[in-house]
Formats: sequence, structure tokens, C-alpha cells
Amino acid sequence: MTINVLFVCLGNICRSPTAHGVFQKIIDDRGLNNRISVDSAGTAGWHTGKSPDARSQRFAKKRGYDLSDLRARQAIATDFDEFDLILAMDKQNLKDLQALCPSHFAGRLDLFLAFGGSELSEVPDPYYEGDDGFEKVLDLVEDACQGLLDHLLSKKA
Ligand code: 4NP
Repeated sequence: MTINVLFVCLGNICRSPTAHGVFQKIIDDRGLNNRISVDSAGTAGWHTGKSPDARSQRFAKKRGYDLSDLRARQAIATDFDEFDLILAMDKQNLKDLQALCPSHFAGRLDLFLAFGGSELSEVPDPYYEGDDGFEKVLDLVEDACQGLLDHLLSKKA
């Protein structure tokens, strides 16, 4: 059985594609493609069809993650039928997803950083920030992806 994980931020061009690319690489490197599948989406549809932000791509590439094939899409109600785990980058994203979430959703909807070891509970939006903001996103994402993987493997995903 495959565990389907969806990462969600606001625009789906900075934080969630970064989490998507980082977690996908971990899964590829560990040969876990038949057990875990990954996708990402935004609560807003403004950037639908676009590649990740050039800054997110550049900083991710420096750490060995290729985000170039990813394209933005908006989170939709049927995502709750397809995904087992829907992970929001910040509390507003979580609130917006809760509003979309059908009562029959059997999976887990949570903040992504619930799986991380940082004292932060949200991945700060880097869109209007400088380079440090994008490095910080990668630091937080790498840490929480490792925690998420440990969690899924401990559950015999
Ligand atoms: P993201 O960042 O939610 O991490 O993809 C943003 C991207 C675009 C905008 C805001 C945040 N925007 O206002 O267009």
C-alpha cells in the first residue's frame, strides 16, 4: 500500500514545492517509490501551471534538489480522497485546508513542522524575503522531511 503525502502552502511556488522536491529525493535515494508518493499544492490558484519561484529553484539546486519539473496547482476538495497525509506549511494554510476538508477525511491534516525538531511550528513565507528566507525554508524542510520519513517508516508505511 502506498502512502500519499501532499504538501500545501499558499502559492505552491516556494515552500511546498521545496518540501515536494526534498522529500521526493529522499524517497528516490532510499528506493521507497513504491511505498510513498509525494505531491504539492497551494491554497491559492494564482500561480497555477507555473514552475517554482526561481529563487526556490536556485537555492534547492545548491543542495542537490531539482524542482524544475514541478508545476503549481491549487489544492481541491478531492485531494482529501486521494491523500493520506496533508501537511500545511503555516497556520493560515492549515485553516484554509480545514475549511475545504470533508468530514469523512480519514487521513491526517496537520502542520508539516509537527514532524520537525525545530521550535518553530510554521515554515515562514520567503516570497517577500531575501536569500536567507529561502535557506531557512530549506533548513526547516530538510529537518521535517527526515522526521516525516522516520514517522512513516516506523508505521511500516
Ligand atoms: P509559497 O509563497 O506560499 O511558499 O508558494 C508565496 C508565493 C506567492 C505568493 C505568496 C507566497 N504571492 O503572494 O503571490
